[in-house]
Amino acid sequence: MSMPKTDATPTPGGATPESDPVVRARALVKTFPIKRNPLGRTVQRLHAVERVDLTVYAGQTLGIVGESGSGKSTVGRVIARLLTPDSGTVEIGGHDLTKARGRQLWRARANVQMIFQNPFAALDPTKTIGHAVAEPLLVHGRCRRRDMYQRAAELLERAALDPALVDRYPGQLSGGQRQRVCIARALALSPRLLVADEPTSALDLSTRSEILNLLLRLQEDTGQAMILISHDVTTIKHLSHRVAVMYLGRVVEEGAVSELIGSPRHPYTQALLSAVPEPDPMTQRRRTRIVLTGDSPSPIDLPSGCRFRTRCPIATEECAVLDPPLIAVGKDHRVACIHRGGA
Ligand SMILES: Nc1ncnc2c1ncn2[C@@H]1O[C@H](COP(=O)(O)OP(=O)(O)OP(=O)(O)O)[C@@H](O)[C@H]1O
Ligand SMILES: [Mg+2]
Repeated sequence: MSMPKTDATPTPGGATPESDPVVRARALVKTFPIKRNPLGRTVQRLHAVERVDLTVYAGQTLGIVGESGSGKSTVGRVIARLLTPDSGTVEIGGHDLTKARGRQLWRARANVQMIFQNPFAALDPTKTIGHAVAEPLLVHGRCRRRDMYQRAAELLERAALDPALVDRYPGQLSGGQRQRVCIARALALSPRLLVADEPTSALDLSTRSEILNLLLRLQEDTGQAMILISHDVTTIKHLSHRVAVMYLGRVVEEGAVSELIGSPRHPYTQALLSAVPEPDPMTQRRRTRIVLTGDSPSPIDLPSGCRFRTRCPIATEECAVLDPPLIAVGKDHRVACIHRGGA
């Protein structure tokens, strides 16, 4: 797959990372009740997200990477307020979205739009493409019904689609076209943040890079902030300015893509990166593949201390006692490991 070329610098346009945070998530916790007693009381909870802090800056993409079940989608949905967190805050433009209720929440939600993995399920097969794209504008009173198709056609063009598609139905479109329709719809309200959750994993290889290039171009045009969720490190590496690596509900390493991908510190990040094929066969041959042994522990019954210790090649007895916080190891680089947290 030919990947779009991006500048890996974390601060395009000379802005400092601290300059303009669009989203600040603090100490997010999300658990799901999974077992109730006969009286209906929850007796067991699954810890999907535990004390996660994330910041996304204007015009930048934060990539979230991690294996299946690490809590990536849950974080995305909490930030988009499709899920309510148990605790923690999500500030967008200085307002805490987690406190918003009723009409205030409805209005605030327009600031964050999601693009989902499956464009087949995301569109109502009985509504025209024009309706699907313009619906958010109608719902938020930003467009009159008679202008709906005109506005939808403009949005389709921005997503590099033929505006004549407004009269078609989702069943008449290819997977790639449907995902472009979803992107056009997500852009309709000019949100401050786009959350793209595995936006290409349901598409064939040739369509993937087209969609990723489109997201990249749109971000360059609009200066929009984006969270890109993927289990594919290569995608994250090419499209993100900053990266957060998640393991079992926690961010274990976070920072500028150049620092984190260039010199990963956490043993989990190192294992993830060692599995990515190198284009240069000489480099590939020299590189040692780190294979993690054992299954990921259950998020219902988490290990004490560091939750990665049961699979970690450098774990010691201390790791069973200490739950490591994220510690700065570079200018824009933090790691949660007692053995790798020293600068
Ligand atoms: N509605 C729910 N009810 C119960 N458990 C849930 C629910 N949604 C997610 N989970 C659990 O929360 C954990 C995190 O799930 P999440 O979907 O966020 O992971 P993910 O990193 O996005 O995984 P994937 O890469 O497979 O999409 C998993 O153990 C999952 O089974
Ligand atoms: Mg997911």
